[in-house]
Amino acid sequence: MSNIVVVGTQWGDEGKGKMVDVLAETARLIVRFQGGNNAGHTIVVDEEPFISHLVPSGILHQNKVCLIGNGVVVDPGVLTEEIQHLRNRGIPVGPNNLLISENAHLIMPYHKLIDHGRERLLRADKKIGTTGRGIGPCYEDKVTRRGIRFCDLIDPKTFKQKLSSILKEKNFYLKEFLKSETMDEEAILEEYLPYAKALRPHVANVSVLINQAIKGGDSVLFEGAQGTHLDIDHGTYPYVTSSNTVAGNACCGAGIGPTQIHGVIGTVKAYTTRVGKGPFPTELFDETGNLIQNRGAEFGATTGRRRRCGWLDTVVVRNSARINSLTGLAITKLDVLSGFETLEICTAYRYKQDRLTEFPSAIRVLEKCEPIYEKLPGWPDDITAIRNVDELPENAVNYVKRIEELVEAPVQIISVGPGRKHTIVLQDPFDSV
Ligand code: GDP
Ligand code: IMO
Ligand code: MG
Repeated sequence: MSNIVVVGTQWGDEGKGKMVDVLAETARLIVRFQGGNNAGHTIVVDEEPFISHLVPSGILHQNKVCLIGNGVVVDPGVLTEEIQHLRNRGIPVGPNNLLISENAHLIMPYHKLIDHGRERLLRADKKIGTTGRGIGPCYEDKVTRRGIRFCDLIDPKTFKQKLSSILKEKNFYLKEFLKSETMDEEAILEEYLPYAKALRPHVANVSVLINQAIKGGDSVLFEGAQGTHLDIDHGTYPYVTSSNTVAGNACCGAGIGPTQIHGVIGTVKAYTTRVGKGPFPTELFDETGNLIQNRGAEFGATTGRRRRCGWLDTVVVRNSARINSLTGLAITKLDVLSGFETLEICTAYRYKQDRLTEFPSAIRVLEKCEPIYEKLPGWPDDITAIRNVDELPENAVNYVKRIEELVEAPVQIISVGPGRKHTIVLQDPFDSV
């Protein structure tokens, strides 16, 4: 048995959902450990797409247990809807295969109003471009010790007390500072108490369950959301999300210790994308950027926004390899690069007179970094039908090998399409640790 974490190495949407779905075959437990419904993970099974925002991407497999860890912020309305949607599509979801940590914090309606209100007040060039799902304001209440957790939700008396005590302050801030509408306590209770009833059977001590499973010899797969460069500490602050998205947080966000993690797979999109605001050194504003965007169908699964696109940036991926101690890489969407005569890979940045090989922390520096590119020959043919690395065009293999060299981590999986079958496994991450 081994326990593996899957993280995004760029700015999210690297194809983590697909990778988790593929690797879930080997695991018994699949655990989300951070973020909330700002995530959008698309999984394609037999040509049918499933989008999940909160439910771990293992849910489409039978006999797996999906867990939402204490580090996740959960909008109970979205979770209830997602469960219903899965059931409507014939996927059984019950307390036998989906459990939520009693310590997970609830996204409340005022969190969403505050998220929207703050973005509205910011000048256009200062906006973060959040998903508007209340993620930041919810984590903020968690850290300032005024959050409401699932263990509170399922006890109506505690829930009412906590809501009453915080709502006065929230309404003052909404009305006086954000000039926004305010919230009615009764209306919130009316909306949230039915969620308590629907979700109560799913609420559990997730840390106990994971540790029991590990003791029993089961493998656990930890599903990251967002990407390393959206991490609150290691990302392009303040253009980041409000949680630690890196592998280290799998421990805190699920309730296990670091000695239980055996491998970390970094999902690397074969090029780079970003939704929302913030610096992006290899962003392309020309026809090539449009081509990548169209061929890759780069639209956000959560907000439908067009994703900004550019060449692969290995300064970014190398930074992720270090921060996450990656043991392997999963290269996704390699098929999208078919047909380009020449491909470019960013190997370093030019900043004033200097050549930078490490990702800079200061946004004012990053914004002025010019990518230094290396050119590689492309390949003309479609590769989506290829299942064996030996059958890939030589230039595609060379592109992957060059990533491996520049990032200094072994490529274990290559994804050549959105489906489960579009996967070339070079080394099974569960076997190699
Ligand atoms: P996540 O947030 O990291 O799970 O990624 P998203 O699901 O938001 O975005 C990745 C998109 O690319 C989804 O629409 C996937 O179905 C799709 N996808 C994943 N891997 C591949 C691949 O190898 N090739 C192609 N063409 N599409 C892929
Ligand atoms: P997955 O898991 C891409 C971005 C938002 C915004 C910033 C802050 O699908 O890879 P937030 O609502 O979290 O406060 O927004 O983070 N963002 C994502 N970008 N993929 C995601 O998740 C994202 N989750 C948040 O666009 O720039
Ligand atoms: Mg996504």
